[in-house]
Amino acid sequence: MENKRPSWTSKYAFIITTIGSAVGLGNIWRFPYVMGQNGGAVFLAVYILIISTICFIPLLNELYIGNSTKKECIGAYESINPKLGFLGALNPLTGVLIASFYVVVGGWIINYIFRSILSYKITDYGEYFISFIQQPFYSCFLTILFLFICIFFTARGVKKGIEAANKFLMPLLAVLLIFLVINSLRLPNADIGLEFMFKPDFSKLNSHLLLSALGQAFFTLSVGMGALLTYGSYIKEDKNLVKSVYTIILSDTAFALLAGVMIFPAVFSFNMEPNSGAGLVFVTLPKIFSQIPYGHLISFAFFILLFSAAVTSAISIIECPCATLIEQLKISRVKACIILFFIISLIAIPATLSFGNLENIKIFGKTIFDTLDFLTSNIMLPMNTLILCLISGWYLKIKGYNLLNNKISGLFFDVGLKYIVPIALAGLIFMGLR
Ligand code: PHE
Repeated sequence: MENKRPSWTSKYAFIITTIGSAVGLGNIWRFPYVMGQNGGAVFLAVYILIISTICFIPLLNELYIGNSTKKECIGAYESINPKLGFLGALNPLTGVLIASFYVVVGGWIINYIFRSILSYKITDYGEYFISFIQQPFYSCFLTILFLFICIFFTARGVKKGIEAANKFLMPLLAVLLIFLVINSLRLPNADIGLEFMFKPDFSKLNSHLLLSALGQAFFTLSVGMGALLTYGSYIKEDKNLVKSVYTIILSDTAFALLAGVMIFPAVFSFNMEPNSGAGLVFVTLPKIFSQIPYGHLISFAFFILLFSAAVTSAISIIECPCATLIEQLKISRVKACIILFFIISLIAIPATLSFGNLENIKIFGKTIFDTLDFLTSNIMLPMNTLILCLISGWYLKIKGYNLLNNKISGLFFDVGLKYIVPIALAGLIFMGLR
């Protein structure tokens, strides 16, 4: 079994797939709207501070555990201590739950791609969005279609499916993003949008903003559900994991920043509100696209961009439980993918319907979709990261110096792994539970 494990064809393949995992809805959908809701530039300043200091610690830790054990989540935790397997199992479980709401948004994106191709005329974008996500059959069809596309790539395997999809979609994503940024910067009054992003008003700083930035940073880097652990386990040998980690963080941040620079100048240029929340990308932007020359083309490019980002992340989310099923149950990849297709559909369909027919089903006051989002992003992701940091820092006693080859950053890593990151994560979980 051991030597039949797949591995990346090259270091480039590992880096591009991991960037593909990191850059997703978190960067292009969530980051701009969370920044918009939290005062723009001041949020960005805090976010950059967090992502450039403590975030490399859990990222490096998760990749390192995957790379050194060369196992999927349960196996990796068990090889640390046979009693820890159940904690490892929380990772693929989180993956299944995240996938189940991620694919719903993926389905919405497909609808907007269709709509851009058909040049469909809409008068009220807010109303259109709400009525579209309420249509039971159509929205479920789109959810399943998106899931099928992601499962298809995963089923083709690590090299032929996951790597191939990322090698094609990630460069496409970068090119489209640059094209759209240039386009946005040429709009009248683009500078007001840039000011919103880059001129901080520190009087708006508060603890909620701090924890939102922290949550966003961990979500966007894909830490906390074993996706990185699994991807790390496919690296043949990487003597310089740290360099890869910095490349991943830098690229992820660049994509998020560019997404902001693409969105905010357009928002301000058309006198729209930057704080419209989750609807920013699905309501505000389409409204803007309808008012600019060649808007359909731009809209098409934008939703293809969002689609590419979402697919490469969703693949990484699915690969974690997929690897666990393959290696724990000793079944083929195709079988594991079929099982996952059914399990995720079973949760994703009620999540899709929770915007319409099932909107009255509430769990602790939240719809099914919101519960999945809340439970995973606010509780399970930080909790899994907290557990792995504590295991590495206190039980395995991993030494930063051995990973980083530098006394000062090694020491910072040790303190971060044992104290700073766990405290920050405990704060996040506490805020989530309040
Ligand atoms: N990082 C991805 C995004 O930004 C989401 C994700 C979370 C992927 C956790 C894998 C694991 O969209």
